[in-house]
Amino acid sequence: MQTMRAVLCQRHGPPQSLELGTAAVPQPGPGQVRIRVAACGINFPDLLLVAGTYQDKPPLPFIPGGEVAGVIEQAGPGTGLLRAGQQVMAATLLGGLAEYVVVAARDVEVLPPCLSPEEGAAFPGVYGTAYHALVQRAQLRAGETLLVLGAAGGTGIAAVQLGRALGARVLAAAGSDAKLAFLEAQGADAVINYRTTALRDALRGLTGGRGADVVFDPVGGELFDQATRCLNWNGRLLVVGFASGTIGRLPANLALLKGYALVGVYYGRFREEQPAEAAANAQALRALVDAGKIRPPIHRVFPLEEAAAALACLQDRTVMGKVVVTIGGRQGAFHSAA
Ligand SMILES: NC(=O)c1ccc[n+]([C@@H]2O[C@H](COP(=O)([O-])OP(=O)(O)OC[C@H]3O[C@@H](n4cnc5c(N)ncnc54)[C@H](OP(=O)(O)O)[C@@H]3O)[C@@H](O)[C@H]2O)c1
Repeated sequence: MQTMRAVLCQRHGPPQSLELGTAAVPQPGPGQVRIRVAACGINFPDLLLVAGTYQDKPPLPFIPGGEVAGVIEQAGPGTGLLRAGQQVMAATLLGGLAEYVVVAARDVEVLPPCLSPEEGAAFPGVYGTAYHALVQRAQLRAGETLLVLGAAGGTGIAAVQLGRALGARVLAAAGSDAKLAFLEAQGADAVINYRTTALRDALRGLTGGRGADVVFDPVGGELFDQATRCLNWNGRLLVVGFASGTIGRLPANLALLKGYALVGVYYGRFREEQPAEAAANAQALRALVDAGKIRPPIHRVFPLEEAAAALACLQDRTVMGKVVVTIGGRQGAFHSAA
């Protein structure tokens, strides 16, 4: 049996409970490819999966890691145009923090030449989520006002960049002045520090009292509660996640008074239920990457040996953009980023 180096979750707990060990090299079946992983993007759901508090609970032990970039090493039957040697990126949900991962061909995309493997590993999950949220769920239109909470985080910064690319006015909200400076540099039209300013007052000032047409909320808790009072008439409040650890509550009369809608977002389920639309989204995102309109900002890169520290980073709320883990060096396999 061939083995590989992998980060193993043997028991649920904090990131520090992860262990670097060995696992069997996975074999691709029909419709699957094996990718030699160059880089793996770290996401908030990785923390929840390792803690055992995510909506999906894979059996122990498992290998975390939900977004990768690498090279196809072997393609099973029925994998279309994909072939060994191609540089690709993929949303995997699990398995990315290892030397090899097996992925369904439909979840694999060719790595755009303008992205480095680190950037490719920071792309499919978060940009896919933000695009689905803004386009299918909110039906965001050019000229509308979009408020993004947790805007310096992974899904948040994707929503900021995509909101701009779709022609919206983007108000980016985060919890420190360093993050506000980062968000201004990323092209936000206005920024709000929600640790020092009440969201509702800031929105009133920035929208002439009307509020936001669309709110993108990956944080939940107290911020969600504030956001329920920041919507314009006909607004859409997107429930994306609960990074605060608390699920917010909506007094239903607020939705009535402003004629606004509470809209759930679940990108993984969308890909399962509507694969043709998900593939069309991936093409639209590819066009935006090629046009230079979106690009994942990389906060910090860790080696595989420090994967636990990479996950722990997301807990201290200092990350601006994405944290990535590189695996086994990148000698010669990749083009370099433009
Ligand atoms: N619905 C979907 O399909 C989908 C897809 C992907 C992710 N998600 C969910 O979306 C949420 C965010 O994911 P992400 O990848 O964007 O996370 P992230 O990169 O870690 O960003 C989350 C942001 O939340 C804020 N935050 C507030 N309280 C926090 C706390 N106690 N701990 C950590 N961060 C806190 C932080 O910003 P400030 O410090 O500036 O407040 C941080 O930048 C997660 O709940 C994740 O499960 C949902």
